[in-house]
Amino acid sequence: MPGTQQLACDVKDLELAAKGKIRMEWAGQWMPVLNLIRKRFAAERPLEGVRIAACLHVTSETGNLAIALRDGGAQVVVCASNPLSTQDDVAASLVRDFQIPVFAIKGEDKDTYYSHISSALDHKPQITMDDGADLVTAILSKRQELVAGVIGGTEETTTGVIRLRSMANHGVLKYPIVAVNDADTKHLFDNRYGTGQSTIDGILRATNLLFAGLHVVVCGYGYCGRGVSLRAKGMGAHVAVTETDPTRAIEAIMDGYAVMPMAEAAKWGDVFVTVTGNKSIIRGEHFRLMKDGAVVANSGHFNVELDLPALEAMAVSKRQTRDFVDEYTLPDKRKIYVLGEGRLINLVAAEGHPAVVMDMSFANQALCVEYLVKHAAELSPKVYPVPAEIDKNVARLKLDSLGVTIDKLTPEQEEYLASWAEGT
Ligand SMILES: NC(=O)c1ccc[n+]([C@@H]2O[C@H](COP(=O)([O-])OP(=O)(O)OC[C@H]3O[C@@H](n4cnc5c(N)ncnc54)[C@H](O)[C@@H]3O)[C@@H](O)[C@H]2O)c1
Repeated sequence: MPGTQQLACDVKDLELAAKGKIRMEWAGQWMPVLNLIRKRFAAERPLEGVRIAACLHVTSETGNLAIALRDGGAQVVVCASNPLSTQDDVAASLVRDFQIPVFAIKGEDKDTYYSHISSALDHKPQITMDDGADLVTAILSKRQELVAGVIGGTEETTTGVIRLRSMANHGVLKYPIVAVNDADTKHLFDNRYGTGQSTIDGILRATNLLFAGLHVVVCGYGYCGRGVSLRAKGMGAHVAVTETDPTRAIEAIMDGYAVMPMAEAAKWGDVFVTVTGNKSIIRGEHFRLMKDGAVVANSGHFNVELDLPALEAMAVSKRQTRDFVDEYTLPDKRKIYVLGEGRLINLVAAEGHPAVVMDMSFANQALCVEYLVKHAAELSPKVYPVPAEIDKNVARLKLDSLGVTIDKLTPEQEEYLASWAEGT
């Protein structure tokens, strides 16, 4: 274990490293695009000496990304982007086997969570990699002295991009950010198929419910909501969607779901999943209407989608009945079950997104870091899309890895598509 003793880190137990290493190897086999990038990075060292702080869910897929960045020459430090999503064995292996400092322990309290972010920032990052914009927020609010040294950052998720756009609009963002979430090869697959499957996986692991025949309410029909609805329907559940956006509501109707306001859905549902990126979606007035035994979970980024303080205030008692399941008893003896303390259930009770989709998300992350190293000086403090050539390249590499070939436009077709005079 060379160097581990000196490495600043805070993980649960370094003895867990062997298990974490095997899990990272398992995930790595399903990440062919990231592996190609890792090999090229190792040969070309495009990130030589660049200090990167990555605030991500510390999972086996994130471990593979951190290793790829390290192999590209970067000095990487990792902290958690959620107090409950860390895989402690992966954190241990990154430290012990790869000498990557990690500050993350599953179940850490709020103070520890923020102190871990602060420890990652002590590394004086030149690039920040966020999942929810907590690093950028900490730099701008508490560690302004670091701003001068940061060349740019990346953002992994919808909620983070929304926060960063708001910072840019208010003129407080101080360095350029690439919105990895907005790449087609990210949100079309990660948010939809990744969150779709892993959210159901988390609910099932926590409860062992049978979805067939259940009434499942999905709050929010964005990329994640579409995925969760599709998978719930595929398991035989009846699905109702709640929305505030009229276009998305029509889409949900035409995709075959019932659409109704939350006040109606509260009475109808057996299982509720919030994936809106907004706050207070399920409130006291809704908990009051729910059936005895209703199960409530969130898979949106922050734990503010369920108004749990309101439920606490209504309940006469609360106890834990299974791992990640809290039973709240209301005055009329009805019971409501809240999963994973309202934190993203796919990471709390399951393992987050499958590696196959994280392959594309993290290929985008790695290539956007390389892009920032080359181009940050030309960018201003705004939120930028992932360059189209990176996005398409990730798609091409993924197709290659699947052994799928597609057609090429003929010169005649290219000309036809580019010409306004054709088509008459
Ligand atoms: N669990 C995970 O692993 C994971 C993965 C990716 C994204 N996320 C998070 O999930 C959330 C949703 O992401 P997305 O990409 O689907 O976003 P999105 O913007 O595509 O969709 C959100 C939808 O919620 C709707 N909405 C907003 N307020 C609502 C309300 N009060 N009631 C009903 N619907 C409402 C919006 O109209 C929109 O259609 C974000 O917080 C994102 O960061 C989680």
